[in-house]
Amino acid sequence: MRLGILTGGGDCPGTNAVIRAVVRRSVKEYGSEVVGFLEGFRGVMENMVMPLTMHSTGGLIHRGGTILRTSRINPFKMERGPERIKENMDKHRLDALIVVGGEDTVQVANQLYNEHKLNLVCVPKTIDNDINATDVTFGFDTAVNIVAEALDRLHTTAESHNRVLVCEVIGRNAGWIACYGGIAGGADFILVPEKPINLAAVINSIKQRHARGRDFSIVVVAEGAKFDDESANPEREVDAHGHIKLGGLGEILAKHIGKETGFETRSTTLGHIQRGGSPTAFDRVLATRYGVLAADLVHQKKYGTMVALHGNTLVDVPISDAVNSLKMLDMDVYKVAEVFFG
Ligand code: F6P
Repeated sequence: MRLGILTGGGDCPGTNAVIRAVVRRSVKEYGSEVVGFLEGFRGVMENMVMPLTMHSTGGLIHRGGTILRTSRINPFKMERGPERIKENMDKHRLDALIVVGGEDTVQVANQLYNEHKLNLVCVPKTIDNDINATDVTFGFDTAVNIVAEALDRLHTTAESHNRVLVCEVIGRNAGWIACYGGIAGGADFILVPEKPINLAAVINSIKQRHARGRDFSIVVVAEGAKFDDESANPEREVDAHGHIKLGGLGEILAKHIGKETGFETRSTTLGHIQRGGSPTAFDRVLATRYGVLAADLVHQKKYGTMVALHGNTLVDVPISDAVNSLKMLDMDVYKVAEVFFG
């Protein structure tokens, strides 16, 4: 067979491990050839390709980012987008395309499969861990570890200066990274998009903690969390996929906390640090398992599917099961985090 692979949406540690696994399995087990498209769907529309061999994809297991680069292009908003994708797949005599991406990329793949009958298999990829139909996406574990390590560092400096330190983390609409990272890093309050911010509750909790003799506090806030008082939420710009551009909430929250408690309060935004660098061992293994299964599914012609993890078992699910809504934080885990507030 001849197959293509692309990586779309925000980059994510473990993506190169997927590419390496797809190529290794396809070439070694099936004698197939693999072509990489550059910069997500832009590469398929504009015919930007890179041949991928076992040699060129060797030594990638530990490397962050994506060697194919990425973009947030939506082909359905471009002139003859889907048609150009089909033409270029034909030009390269491709039997199928493996699409590695997050919420938007998987949504586009689902539409291309249903409306344009393209032979596609998806691999879910996002540090946000918010894709439906899979328990975990690779990249999430790495991001959580980065948050935990940052909180360890913030603890020692907060404690030395008797400060409240607010740490803003990413994860867009879902609080997975904030909640898991916050629990792992011993946060004293965690704010997630799934639960509106009640400023009075945050302030009381910090005051209570300081009243019982602690002179510092660590607050984790997810970039997509919102105040219950609508007027306190900042105005936001919108991107190409209709998503609001986030960032800056930590600073706003720190100002409120400082003003209301009288404690010196500062904020740190982790931002893209959570997305860069080497994947953890967990993510390397998960990404590799996903890549091998995606290659197998293509060779079995099981198109319209997405690889997924259910428990510790790798399965395939229809792409359509993964789209239209996000997998929000499991609030039972948040309840565990709450035990340590205040
Ligand atoms: O979807 C992954 C993600 O890292 C989100 O957590 C974050 O809101 C967004 O991407 C940032 O996107 P960009 O890198 O395009 O600013």
